[in-house]
Amino acid sequence: MLWADISLIQSYCRKEKNGNCEEAGLLLSTYVYKRMSINDVVPGMILGKMLVTQDGKNFLNEGAVLTLRVIQTLQMWGFQRVDIREEVRDKSPHFVDDVIESNQQQLSCSFPEAMEPVDEQPAAVAPAGSIAPPAPEEPVDVPAGFVAYYQAAVQIFKKNLGRARFIRDGFEVADIRQMVTECVLPLIEDPTVMDHLQMMPHTEDYLYHHSVDVGIISGCLGLWTGRPFREIEEIILGALLHDAGKALIPLKVLNKPERLTEAEMNLVRFHSIRGYKFLKENSELPRSILLCALQHHERGDGSGYPLSVREDKIHPYAKIIAVADVFDAMTSVRNYGRRATPYEAVEVLRKEMVDKLDTSVCSAFVDKLTQRFVGDVVELSNGQRGEVIFLNRFDSTRPMVRTNDGAFVDLDKTRNLSICKMLHS
Ligand SMILES: [Fe+2]
Repeated sequence: MLWADISLIQSYCRKEKNGNCEEAGLLLSTYVYKRMSINDVVPGMILGKMLVTQDGKNFLNEGAVLTLRVIQTLQMWGFQRVDIREEVRDKSPHFVDDVIESNQQQLSCSFPEAMEPVDEQPAAVAPAGSIAPPAPEEPVDVPAGFVAYYQAAVQIFKKNLGRARFIRDGFEVADIRQMVTECVLPLIEDPTVMDHLQMMPHTEDYLYHHSVDVGIISGCLGLWTGRPFREIEEIILGALLHDAGKALIPLKVLNKPERLTEAEMNLVRFHSIRGYKFLKENSELPRSILLCALQHHERGDGSGYPLSVREDKIHPYAKIIAVADVFDAMTSVRNYGRRATPYEAVEVLRKEMVDKLDTSVCSAFVDKLTQRFVGDVVELSNGQRGEVIFLNRFDSTRPMVRTNDGAFVDLDKTRNLSICKMLHS
């Protein structure tokens, strides 16, 4: 096994000391609390003690993330001081960092450029500022409101991650948090969000589009699996940053149109560790967000990477992001490979949910996706075009299609045909 012995990691795993365990993953933590003036609070801090109004009503729960907007609201309501909760590292050996460190040494032998500056010229990034996005590609049949939010999110993300490629501290967590609140959250409650997402062009800046897509899909999954609102915000943030390590990979490798060599493939696989280490340098980010970067390629049966941990050691947020990541990677246009249809992606999710991906997350996702299949305009593998008119009871990925010449094709019975392309009516 390439990586260090997993039993070493497992032996160090234990319950959180204060019994308020929020992280079921590898890294367990203890909290310390400190009282601060509201004027000294910065976005990203976590509320350590519930705030109540003068008449004793709950105003804000412990554990809430204090965004700029929340801080301003607290100031407006006259809160002078708040208790802030901070994670502290366990005093036991830093097992995850140790394991990563030992593997980095192995990888550095093979890839000496792995931790070096990655590109000579800065990528073209949007100027600083918030939501006034340019529209380089106009998608067809997508509401203008969705396009505006989506493209704003991509531009803000590109500005921050693009800058991080060259300036280590050029990455503003507050910007990304603001983007979660102002661009992504408004989208996830729209029942048609997945339809629109499928129609957005992704031909340029795949990394940034993919990150925003995974942020939106993960937010939806958080919503559809009944996560509380404050967790959904964190899931979206973790999802947006899940591939931060890829922003540090040389563009000539990241955007290479041909098949990657084994060495390049290994360099790309190293992105989860690089992302974890990169995000760890930023003290504003909670541990759960770091774990999203580290663990989103782990799989429940231990077949994932980088540490090949099993289901019970993978953070719940990383499990959600893994599902969104698989779906978006399959259904997006990339430099190589064919864009899969949602029907094909659902088939894959159904197989992977048996032992690799989280069953409840996949199940909620498949349920929501397939509800919207009826009415899809599609192309079949024999070139015929038509409309999905109803779903097969036992396999919604093989529905009944009425073709343009009026014929009815039951894909459940016509196994030699399949839906190979989505057409937009
Ligand atoms: Fe990744």
